[in-house]
Amino acid sequence: MKKIKLDPNRINQKIYDRFARSYWEKRQDLKRSLYNEFLEIRPMRKILLPLINEKKSKKKILDLGCGSGQMSAWISKCDPHAKVIGVDASSKMLELAKENYSYLQFEQTFSHKLYFADKYFDIVTSSLMIHYLKDLGPTFKAVSRVLKNHGHFVFSIHHPVGEVLKKNKYGALVLKNYFHQDWYRWKMFPGMNLMSYHHTFETIVEALNKNHFSLLEIIEPRPAKILAKRYPDFYKSSSQNPSFCLLHAVRRPR
Ligand SMILES: C[S@@+](CC[C@H](N)C(=O)[O-])C[C@H]1O[C@@H](n2cnc3c(N)ncnc32)[C@H](O)[C@@H]1O
Repeated sequence: MKKIKLDPNRINQKIYDRFARSYWEKRQDLKRSLYNEFLEIRPMRKILLPLINEKKSKKKILDLGCGSGQMSAWISKCDPHAKVIGVDASSKMLELAKENYSYLQFEQTFSHKLYFADKYFDIVTSSLMIHYLKDLGPTFKAVSRVLKNHGHFVFSIHHPVGEVLKKNKYGALVLKNYFHQDWYRWKMFPGMNLMSYHHTFETIVEALNKNHFSLLEIIEPRPAKILAKRYPDFYKSSSQNPSFCLLHAVRRPR
């Protein structure tokens, strides 16, 4: 596979800067965001809600790769006493976040360059950002440092198998090279071409372990039956093939 010399962090930062508003508009339109809504947002919220609502109040929660800030806003709505901070690499995505949720704190930084104090956060959550990372180590290390002992790290990624399922010339899905550890191009919508990195389950779990996390659960979301009638194509494909994968890990005590 052709090697890319440019920093993938910067490439995606530029792309998200350029397409920030179109991305936001897409996410506001349910029909264009069925996968996000039903296979990512809802299952993420299901994991996060009991953690946010745990007895201890004034939780500190980091939304890593917060984009235009919807998850940060939802967390803050669930617990108005929580201190929620959203960070993202793209200044244009953050402009939208600030425009929409001016009462929340948003900061620009890369996920491996978190400047918060050690053991500052109770929860770090990250929606659909981790697959942009070439190397998981530096970001997992940074998250591990800023999390308290027993703090929760909940993140969603492109499913490692879903990523390598490709249509052959007859339209049938075939699994292409699961074990590659390289970048791949994909299209969010016409014009918005992104590059992400394929990480196998083994690589992800190894990187978590190495950075003092214990894995609690892996969720491979499937659509609820009730969606079959309303969105038959979406239902059929997403009940057969994986799209996203959610991981929930806990910071082991120092
Ligand atoms: C698919 S969007 C998800 C945004 C938001 N979490 C959501 O669910 O709506 C991915 C976001 O990750 C950000 N991102 C990508 N790589 C990043 C990195 N290395 N550090 C921080 N943010 C990054 C992008 O700028 C973009 O806003």
